[in-house]
Amino acid sequence: MGDRVEGKIALITGAASGIGRGCAKRLTEEGAHVVITDIQNEMGKEAIAEIEAAGGSAEYLPHDVTSEDEWIGVVDAIANKHGKLHILVNNAGIGVAASIFEMSLADWQRQQAINLDGVFLGVKHAIPLINQSGGGSVINISSVAGIKGTPGLAAYNATKGGVRIFSKGVALECASMRWPVRVNSVHPGIIDTPIWTKEVGALAGDGANAVDAGAMAEVSATTGVLGKPIDIANGVLFLASDESAYITGTELIIDAGICA
Ligand code: NAI
Repeated sequence: MGDRVEGKIALITGAASGIGRGCAKRLTEEGAHVVITDIQNEMGKEAIAEIEAAGGSAEYLPHDVTSEDEWIGVVDAIANKHGKLHILVNNAGIGVAASIFEMSLADWQRQQAINLDGVFLGVKHAIPLINQSGGGSVINISSVAGIKGTPGLAAYNATKGGVRIFSKGVALECASMRWPVRVNSVHPGIIDTPIWTKEVGALAGDGANAVDAGAMAEVSATTGVLGKPIDIANGVLFLASDESAYITGTELIIDAGICA
């Protein structure tokens, strides 16, 4: 246990699973109190139990990031209970793999709503509380797919590219108002989480063609190694902590050289 984010209140969306859960664990190990939100309520409660068993402090709130009313409710709940917020990790996301020529407008819009509208709503409703709390850090989880294109993932590319440049615009808007809120994006490579089987599930229905993320990493990552949520969580921790006090409007690529 350390103290790199001691006394800070953090909100992490989609943190019942995968990268978000890894970030929640890491931030609590370093002294933050983490509010985990997600639509998978049982898994969210399991994440809390795991963190508390390890001596960390966290709570769970049900939260669909596509709903503005739910964002207002979550931020109000944090303001009422804690009176402050310092860190927001906009992590919730899905990947819908499909040829752009076969993708339905409904799938395009569903992915945009979670991956991009959700980040907009988080920024809109949580940053004012972070500013009132004396400042802090917003970390938006984009992807290597927000840096370079991928066949079969063009719609996902659009959402993650949007997160990247939106983060820069928001960083500059906060800075122009002299709000002490830093905003950066993080771009994971191929990380071992359930997203890979869900992604194909949306396309193939039964997941029969599930992507083998390990095999993909062997081909794409320069090290041939599949990443773990902790690899992303360590970067998020740095951006969340005051160690990165002079860093805003930039992007942190954690991809074992995929984009190099
Ligand atoms: P995951 O599927 O394990 O976790 C995503 C979480 O988001 C799930 O718990 C899910 O319930 C939640 N979620 C989905 N829709 C939601 C909604 N409407 N409201 C609230 N929560 C919702 O996936 P993973 O891999 O941990 O993904 C986290 C983020 O990292 C996503 O934004 C993803 O695009 C991004 N990413 C993941 C990579 C990977 O290789 N796993 C690579 C690059 C980016």
